Amino acid sequence: MIRKIGIIGAGTMGHGIAESFAMYGYDVNLYDINAAALEKAKLEMEQELVMLAEEAIFARAELPKILERIKLSTDLKQTVEDRDYVIECAPENLELKKNLFKQLDEICPAKTILASNTSSLPLGEMMELVGEDRKKRMMVNHMFNPAHLIPLVELSFFGNMPEEIFAEVEDLYLSIKKQPIRIVKDVPGLVANRIMQGVAREVFSLIEQGVADAADIDRALKFGPAFRYATTGQLEVSDFGGLDIWCIVGDNLLKAMDNSQSANKLLRQKVSEGKLGVKSGEGFYRYDPDKVADIKIHFMKKLIRQLKVSQTYV
Ligand SMILES: NC(=O)c1ccc[n+]([C@@H]2O[C@H](COP(=O)([O-])OP(=O)(O)OC[C@H]3O[C@@H](n4cnc5c(N)ncnc54)[C@H](O)[C@@H]3O)[C@@H](O)[C@H]2O)c1
Repeated sequence: MIRKIGIIGAGTMGHGIAESFAMYGYDVNLYDINAAALEKAKLEMEQELVMLAEEAIFARAELPKILERIKLSTDLKQTVEDRDYVIECAPENLELKKNLFKQLDEICPAKTILASNTSSLPLGEMMELVGEDRKKRMMVNHMFNPAHLIPLVELSFFGNMPEEIFAEVEDLYLSIKKQPIRIVKDVPGLVANRIMQGVAREVFSLIEQGVADAADIDRALKFGPAFRYATTGQLEVSDFGGLDIWCIVGDNLLKAMDNSQSANKLLRQKVSEGKLGVKSGEGFYRYDPDKVADIKIHFMKKLIRQLKVSQTYV
């Protein structure tokens, strides 16, 4: 049974994953190569957990205990040598991840299951330098940002891992109220990122063509397709609508839609002008620097409300 968690990399994803496990009683060791990154992670976890307590996700009295369960370290050996499950959340660089897994394979006990939170790297290449036995205990474990709020976790089941080890990991995620899905083929982007890019490609194309303004395009998504998607998946939606209708509309519309094979031109132009979104003060919308902190809190609070409601769905 998995009880002790190790996390490598305390950035955007690592700190959120650490608090997700600590909230449900797991003992978490969080490692980063950079001490300042650990300090930042500590602050972010405290702020995020306070907000979760305020929103009654757990009792306020639990907060100090949750924080105590997360041990910070810049010592890799100390972080992982007694762990059951280690999730790597280091930068998206194949050589870096390959070498990290080699080190982890050498330090960790034989029982340890190693996982990568990679967004795009193939498992087969990341595990090239680990021993044959460890390959049976390696997987992709892809979560979404903010990891402490988004329930989805994509788990690889690509044929290298026995069913019973996979089931242990699946149970682990169910125990922290996440929604694990089993991915059986190693395709770039797995499932959720591919769906998201498909939507994003059309949204960027619509704004580029001037079909509607940014706020209306976003409202069309939030109060149309995405309103339904929060409760009902695309395949269920298709079955409800009738596959014959989806066939006719697909034939009529798909030929008129964007099918580009690289990032949208308007998006690229904004990046070249330094318009990167919230972090630079402008993207598709403008952000007043004095209001950014409140905008982020509002974003998180909406997700927390959504999380509470989603726990009532089957
Ligand atoms: N940010 C997202 O939205 C998101 C979503 C899903 C998956 N991912 C994936 O998760 C992984 C981490 O992404 P992130 O956004 O958290 O990155 P990040 O840059 O926020 O954090 C990475 C952390 O790793 C540390 N680090 C660098 N080299 C290291 C090493 N050798 N050993 C240990 N730590 C090291 C850095 O100091 C930093 O704190 C990447 O593979 C990324 O593709 C990111």
